[in-house]
Amino acid sequence: MNQITPAAKIEIIPPSAPFSEAQRSWLNGFFAGLLTTDGTVALSPEQGAMLLPGAAGDGDDGETPWHDQTLPIADRMKLAEGRPLRRRMMAAMAQQDCGQCGYNCSDYSDAIASKSEARLNLCVPGGKETARMLKSLYEELGNANVPAASPTSVPAVAVSTTISEPGRSRDNPVDAIFVSRRLLNKKGSEKETWHIEFDLSTAGLDYVVGDSFGIFAKNDLGLVDQIIALLGASHTTMVNGKTLRQALVEDVSLSPAPDSLFELFSYLTGGKQREKARALAQGEDPDGDAATLDVMAVLQKFSGVRPHPESFIEALEPLQPRLYSISSSHNATPGKLSLTVDSVRYVIGKRRRLGLASTFLAERINPGDALKVYVQKAHGFALPQDPRTPIVMIGPGTGIAPFRAFLLDRRATGAPGKNWLFFGHQRSDCDFFYQDELNAMKTSGLLTRLSLAWSRDGAKKFYVQDRMREVGRELWTWLADGANLYICGDAKRMAKDVEAALVDIVAQFGARSTDEAISFVAELKKKGRFQQDVY
Ligand SMILES: Cc1cc2nc3c(=O)[nH]c(=O)nc-3n(C[C@H](O)[C@H](O)[C@H](O)COP(=O)(O)OP(=O)(O)OC[C@H]3O[C@@H](n4cnc5c(N)ncnc54)[C@H](O)[C@@H]3O)c2cc1C
Ligand SMILES: NC(=O)c1ccc[n+]([C@@H]2O[C@H](COP(=O)([O-])OP(=O)(O)OC[C@H]3O[C@@H](n4cnc5c(N)ncnc54)[C@H](OP(=O)(O)O)[C@@H]3O)[C@@H](O)[C@H]2O)c1
Repeated sequence: MNQITPAAKIEIIPPSAPFSEAQRSWLNGFFAGLLTTDGTVALSPEQGAMLLPGAAGDGDDGETPWHDQTLPIADRMKLAEGRPLRRRMMAAMAQQDCGQCGYNCSDYSDAIASKSEARLNLCVPGGKETARMLKSLYEELGNANVPAASPTSVPAVAVSTTISEPGRSRDNPVDAIFVSRRLLNKKGSEKETWHIEFDLSTAGLDYVVGDSFGIFAKNDLGLVDQIIALLGASHTTMVNGKTLRQALVEDVSLSPAPDSLFELFSYLTGGKQREKARALAQGEDPDGDAATLDVMAVLQKFSGVRPHPESFIEALEPLQPRLYSISSSHNATPGKLSLTVDSVRYVIGKRRRLGLASTFLAERINPGDALKVYVQKAHGFALPQDPRTPIVMIGPGTGIAPFRAFLLDRRATGAPGKNWLFFGHQRSDCDFFYQDELNAMKTSGLLTRLSLAWSRDGAKKFYVQDRMREVGRELWTWLADGANLYICGDAKRMAKDVEAALVDIVAQFGARSTDEAISFVAELKKKGRFQQDVY
């Protein structure tokens, strides 16, 4: 099945070339379309002109007013109206620059528009609504005029094509060994968060603090066997050289149900059922349950329909990797890597549903097992180059992960800069991750300040940004002294609220108007002094 084999990305423009990520991605796509069989490209003068940085040639002004992860897709598309197609494609994405697709939002859209990337379903946070919008924009692309190579081209330029290095992208993962898991919450917690360790020595991989780790997880066997029973098939039926059970465990996503599955069901059923399946395939919600329909729920909803295993598998989406912020430092523990992973579990109707990768790490992989992984290089999330620069880290919940890594790294390298961590979670007695370690860092002086916020200890919610406001004067002093500021964790609410608190602190203690404080924070971002890793 072609669909589930990751296509290799062609990298023609070397990372060292004087282009931004977005320009590099666009140019890679541009050249990929012109590659001849002997690995050379022929450029027309117009195409040569497009090589100039910033000269995509489509009249774009470079502004991205929709680039805000809290805006709904309809608003983002409105803001992108009248822009070139590649920019409207960017607006269709979830704007988290989370890297799960293997790009930033802007690079992914450029790659699709230049036809170097054919997969329209890679935006995990955007889910089905992004995939649907991209599909319709892609159809527009088919109708648009794409510049063709001229037969009277300038002399051919020889370029080499390289597939990304092993273990450095989702398209070329390597094996790592799962070593151990340890529960970070204590009795009484409503959360289930694990400290997970891997051995990278056989993979020969290294990483820098701030990078994320991509893992390819496997589906739950119990869920797979229930699906096979609903299909009325045998788990040993062969599908594309694998048993049906293996294909369902290893290759395809079982949640949420893709439009192509509804399309398949619309062919296999009649009457009202067919109408419903068709409506669902078009993004409608005839019974008000569309958001709850994972693959098994579709089989239950259309219970008389039993697709052939091969067409069933063909109709599903490939299993996507998941990213996790690395919570260890290669400088401190070479060859080892750790993550801090919150298990996603929830109930819909009578059925308990499992987050794919988080519960795979929590319960379906055993010490000594190998799994496919890659290191996703961080773009704009790293320790300051100058080890003397003070840092302020704000990471509630699993947001602590990269900051544990930063601290371990600064200790291992003897970086003299001051370190201030804001950590928060639900309850102090059971959700204080890495408590002993952080307290020891405080005692040793590595952690200059540790500020904590427990949301459910009192009658009223108290969050990291409430603690930040309490110590606003000192926070402002750190900023005025050149500190870098970092946020990690929930993208939808926390990151936005923390930024709003920061603006208030700058206004109050930096003696600025709100507008000036907003510009000050924007300037921090521009200078790379305010960085985020949010998901
Ligand atoms: C750069 C980056 C870094 C990250 N770092 C971390 C990290 O350090 N630690 C960490 O734990 N996670 C981290 N994540 C998130 C992680 O990648 C996964 O998204 C997360 O673990 C869930 O994946 P999953 O496969 O377990 O769940 P999935 O199978 O993807 O299921 C999650 C989906 O289930 C649905 N869902 C969840 N809860 C409910 C509910 N109550 N009701 C209805 N539907 C629901 C939602 O649609 C949700 O999108 C990071 C993400 C990114 C992009
Ligand atoms: N979809 C969502 O709405 C949502 C929200 C949060 C997390 N998540 C996901 O859940 C996973 C794990 O989360 P996690 O373990 O890191 O913990 P978390 O659920 O993000 O919670 C960590 C702490 O942050 C608090 N918090 C909630 N809203 C906040 C806000 N607006 N500002 C500041 N703090 C806030 C929580 O308080 P209370 O819980 O007591 O309010 C808790 O004390 C991640 O994958 C994350 O993306 C999703």
